[in-house]
Amino acid sequence: MKLAHETFGQGDGVAVVLLHGFPLDRRVMREVGARLGAGGRAEGRRVVVVDLPGFGESPDGAGATMEEIAGELRAFLEGEGLVPCVLGGLSMGGYVGLAYHRKYGADLRGLVLVDTKASADTAEAKGNRDRMVEVAEREGSSAIAKLMFPKMLGGGAGEEVRKKLMEVMEGCRAGTIVRALRAMRDRPDYTEDLRSSEVPVLVVMGEEDVITPAEGGRVLAGVAKRGRFVGVAGAGHMAPLEKPEAVAEAIEGFLKELGV
Ligand code: MLT
Repeated sequence: MKLAHETFGQGDGVAVVLLHGFPLDRRVMREVGARLGAGGRAEGRRVVVVDLPGFGESPDGAGATMEEIAGELRAFLEGEGLVPCVLGGLSMGGYVGLAYHRKYGADLRGLVLVDTKASADTAEAKGNRDRMVEVAEREGSSAIAKLMFPKMLGGGAGEEVRKKLMEVMEGCRAGTIVRALRAMRDRPDYTEDLRSSEVPVLVVMGEEDVITPAEGGRVLAGVAKRGRFVGVAGAGHMAPLEKPEAVAEAIEGFLKELGV
């Protein structure tokens, strides 16, 4: 399937693909993508920042589960010559990355998990998803944006970041929000996949993240057979938007080790 995307840098080596979170689009990963695209080996590096199906400028997908969304991403990556790649995802983008890893891990040179987790939703979290579905259906995207906003950022986030985040969240289509909430609610636990996987994993967490706390990321990096952790001081759940230079630096170090 065709997904809206932007490419930073060039080169015919292994590319880096970055996925946004919920209810967001590729604009929150743009700055990190641009920084990584400008780095890399002398031969260059291609970084592709993608709008997931139904988000941003991408058309709706048919996928109702995280696995199906990962399958739609796979079709896009194949079409663009982006297999194999290093795949990175912010929050819900991390869930998609983990679903992709489960099915297509042999084609991943590395997995970057930012402000996310591998565990499934608890019963309480599933109940919250259902309540949010009702809000989205009844009141639309702005109501979801207002509900989520207070938890998204660290204390030091400036006015520009706050404005950008609100604008992106309010622009997310209500139908996409409903589909994504159900896919997140029903996703499985991916933790055990990482325990035995040979794919190198980098976990990057905002130290002030209250949605997916950094401590969980430290534990996850320890569980992964080839995992490592980087904490981003002064950032909340939107570390790539809040502290793009620190997130790009963490990923750059990981890519250098991989020779990408
Ligand atoms: C996200 O940022 O993608 C969401 O907060 C993830 C979630 O709600 O589990």
